[in-house]
Amino acid sequence: MKKVDVLLGLQWGDEGKGKIVDVLTPDYDIIARFQGGPNAGHTLEFNGIKHVLHTIPSGIFHENTINIIGNGVLIDLFIFQKEIDKLKERKVDATKNLKISKKAHLILPSHRLLDAAYEKAKGLSKIGSTLKGIGPAYTDRTARNGLRVGDLLHTGFMQKYNQLKTQHLEILKFHKFDYEKHLIENMSFTAYEAEWLAVIDNLKKFDLIDSEYYINQALINNKSILAEGAQGSMLDVDFGSYPFVTSSNTITAGVCTGLGVSPDKIGKVIGIFKAYCTRVGSGPFPTELFDSVGEKLRDQGREYGSTTGRPRRCGWLDLPALQYAIMLNGVTELVVTKIDVLNSFETIQACKKYDHNGTLIDYLPFESEENVLQAVYEQINGWNGNINQILTYNQFPENLKNYIRYIEDIVKVPITIISNGPDRKETIFRNI
Ligand code: GDP
Ligand code: IMO
Ligand code: MG
Repeated sequence: MKKVDVLLGLQWGDEGKGKIVDVLTPDYDIIARFQGGPNAGHTLEFNGIKHVLHTIPSGIFHENTINIIGNGVLIDLFIFQKEIDKLKERKVDATKNLKISKKAHLILPSHRLLDAAYEKAKGLSKIGSTLKGIGPAYTDRTARNGLRVGDLLHTGFMQKYNQLKTQHLEILKFHKFDYEKHLIENMSFTAYEAEWLAVIDNLKKFDLIDSEYYINQALINNKSILAEGAQGSMLDVDFGSYPFVTSSNTITAGVCTGLGVSPDKIGKVIGIFKAYCTRVGSGPFPTELFDSVGEKLRDQGREYGSTTGRPRRCGWLDLPALQYAIMLNGVTELVVTKIDVLNSFETIQACKKYDHNGTLIDYLPFESEENVLQAVYEQINGWNGNINQILTYNQFPENLKNYIRYIEDIVKVPITIISNGPDRKETIFRNI
């Protein structure tokens, strides 16, 4: 019987998951998202096209691949419809190869109001949420109040919808949040809600399934499956830099609950990381650079959010954080992306340890909140040349290979794919 392979981010998101899933899709029959929702922005580039997906798995451009939105994913009907429309412009009819779990929860328009109200109430300690309603929708799931895709098929949906919305409006009153003044996707709440409700029937055109049965049966039928993570391990609700995290388990364990597969059905775990680090939103970031080097990383890496357009905070590679993520996920192989962004650096730094109140440590203590950990760096010689056109690993400059080996020596997991540009074609496979 086949197992479910997993590809997930090991840092704070935006590692290039979308690109690499798209590259690996020809090897798989099924690509499945297992957590997160439209807070994700996964970019794919090929044939001069740049496309950003939020809820839909990154295998959607391959006609013969089935894509599944698993039960662990949150769906905003409005954003989902926009994604479908954008795919249509690219001549992709997602009704053909996209299946959606009936158990996936819905993000209601009023969840987005709650997200905004909670962030406002936090003031300076705000999380820097994408404000897509993720936290409130997962809260309602856990509190057993949530509405699911399958509910749309039953009479009584509108009654349940209005009941939950009324509860949300009561909470907003308590927070003195004037929701009519708050814009969602540049619309008033009333206008946004009308758009959201208007596209309910469109979702019914998709194959709405019991995805846990579908996936387990597919494994029995020897179909190959790749689970596509969203966000990154350092944003995991349990193991990330809490409370500056998202509201789901972004780690391998999330595949079991987000797709309904047992732990013994997990196969390869492909962990993806950037050759440096970025973070959007608030929270600790020990290797963050506030100088011209950080600006250079942002410029060269075009580090602006795929979902919100916000400038990403940039810094050097954080090896203790990477090792932590590898441990949590059981990573069996690594993908490093954006290596080309370091082309013009004479020297590269990597954080191997932290200074924690005068003691050198190589792990993340509970007390790792802002400014408590000072990164201690090692310096590595850069390659100082353009590597974008290179097609095989052997052609890489020696200093680049040294950087790869340096990382591998520390984390003890092989780097099997190196991404040297945003395009599908700019991907180098390394046989180890
Ligand atoms: P995801 O959320 O993990 O899918 O990543 P995003 O799409 O949010 O952000 C990654 C960004 O880097 C996108 O703009 C990609 O097109 C781009 N990208 C991916 N891999 C590479 C690479 O190897 N080099 C460069 N320069 N850009 C890359
Ligand atoms: P992908 O899948 C980067 C961050 C937000 C914020 C925190 C909580 O594209 O890698 P939320 O909207 O979940 O309440 O935000 O998590 N965040 C991401 N950062 N990439 C993402 O997704 C993210 N999804 C959420 O910026 O700091
Ligand atoms: Mg992203």
